Amino acid sequence: MTRLIVFLSVLTGFILILVLYTFKTFPVSNDKFDLKKTETTYNTHAAKVLEVTAPKEVEAAGEVVEVEYAPVVDLNTPQLVAGNKIFGQCIACHGKGGEGKASQKAPHIGGQYDWYIEKQLTDMKAGARINVAMNTILKGLSPQDMKDVAAYVTKLPWSKEKYLAAQQPAKK
Ligand code: HEC
Repeated sequence: MTRLIVFLSVLTGFILILVLYTFKTFPVSNDKFDLKKTETTYNTHAAKVLEVTAPKEVEAAGEVVEVEYAPVVDLNTPQLVAGNKIFGQCIACHGKGGEGKASQKAPHIGGQYDWYIEKQLTDMKAGARINVAMNTILKGLSPQDMKDVAAYVTKLPWSKEKYLAAQQPAKK
């Protein structure tokens, strides 16, 4: 009986070693789980999906006509030219026509009195009026920049509808 137990134990040990050894040499190579390869495959696939799902009509139409609008404000003075340039920084929040954006909590400023705009900008920069959203932009604005941008904004039509109506396709 003891001999049988010893024999079985040795046999089990032997089988265990054999199993472990086979496991080690099991054909699961790193090659198959190469992260780089998986990434490349994924990217290629994603690019293909994008290509297939891209809107076809645009391609079929051949030519996408992008209407370029002439500036609503007649940039007939150097100050308005400068103001228009500065206003480029305001569009993201206040909109192209200064119509404001609820999503940014940015109010309508188009057509507002120039002195009021200038005063608000001055006050915000000085900290007399707190405006965290505009802080970064205000740091880069000089008193002259504020005058210039205010001169531009005051010329914008005093409503989004008027702004849209005033837009004219740019002459090429
Ligand atoms: C990151 C978004 C953002 C940008 C960019 C931005 N603004 Fe504002 N602006 C706001 C927000 C938000 C308010 C409202 C602040 C408040 O609640 O007091 C505001 C308020 C104002 C006001 C006060 C309006 C009023 O009726 O009192 C003026 C004037 C103004 N902005 C002008 C500008 C100008 C000019 C620029 C570009 C140089 C500009 N803003 C860029 C977000 C922005």
